[in-house]
Amino acid sequence: MQAASTGIGTGTNANASTNKCKLVILISGGGSNLQSFIDNSINGTLNAEIAAVISNKADAYGLQRASNAGIATDVIDHTEFDSREAFDETLKQHIESYAPDLVILAGFMRILSSDFVQHFHGRLLNIHPSLLPKYPGLNTHQRALDAGDSETGATVHFVTEELDGGPAIIQASVSISTDDDASSLAEKVLQHEHVIYPEAARWFAEGRLKLDGNHAIFDNEKLPVTGIQFNQLENQK
Ligand code: GRF
Repeated sequence: MQAASTGIGTGTNANASTNKCKLVILISGGGSNLQSFIDNSINGTLNAEIAAVISNKADAYGLQRASNAGIATDVIDHTEFDSREAFDETLKQHIESYAPDLVILAGFMRILSSDFVQHFHGRLLNIHPSLLPKYPGLNTHQRALDAGDSETGATVHFVTEELDGGPAIIQASVSISTDDDASSLAEKVLQHEHVIYPEAARWFAEGRLKLDGNHAIFDNEKLPVTGIQFNQLENQK
């Protein structure tokens, strides 16, 4: 189904007709990560075209962000489906109608079925607000605070069938100070999310990043389980 892509290993993951990596972005809420993709695509940092933004919630503010940028939007309300599988099948068909090279989960608050995840194997990314493998699931910042951790962060990873368990690509960490609460941490971590998520997509678009079985491969090397550390990357610049 990835007919529009030149394919990893043969060059970039750019669409043959536009020479840009075609993205479909899935959201459920505010869409600040979506906004970062929009900004990076407009300013040329990310050689991508956002073909569509799809939300399972009609009132997601991210839909407004997409419309403001002239991007097509779809709402597929999961409550109108009898089963997760039926919703996922419709979602899959909508996504494929845009023939994306890469699908971006940006605060999409639905667990995806095995069929869906397998269908998009190697071209489905997520961002999770913790230093995976720590704290998969919800309430990550509060859990880090409750555990007395000195740092937290965010991880971009390939999506596999294991919830928040797919191979990590890039991770950014944030120090926790004594006056932090879950909301101050969320705010700090989001600032980093907005940098590392488009960065991972840029690597994918450039053909430098791929999923091989259950391993993330970057520049032909297997990444460690926690992915590339963004802070180290910064220091190397
Ligand atoms: C982010 O914290 C992201 O890590 C998580 O959902 C949140 C989405 O935020 N998956 P936004 O809608 O992009 O502002």
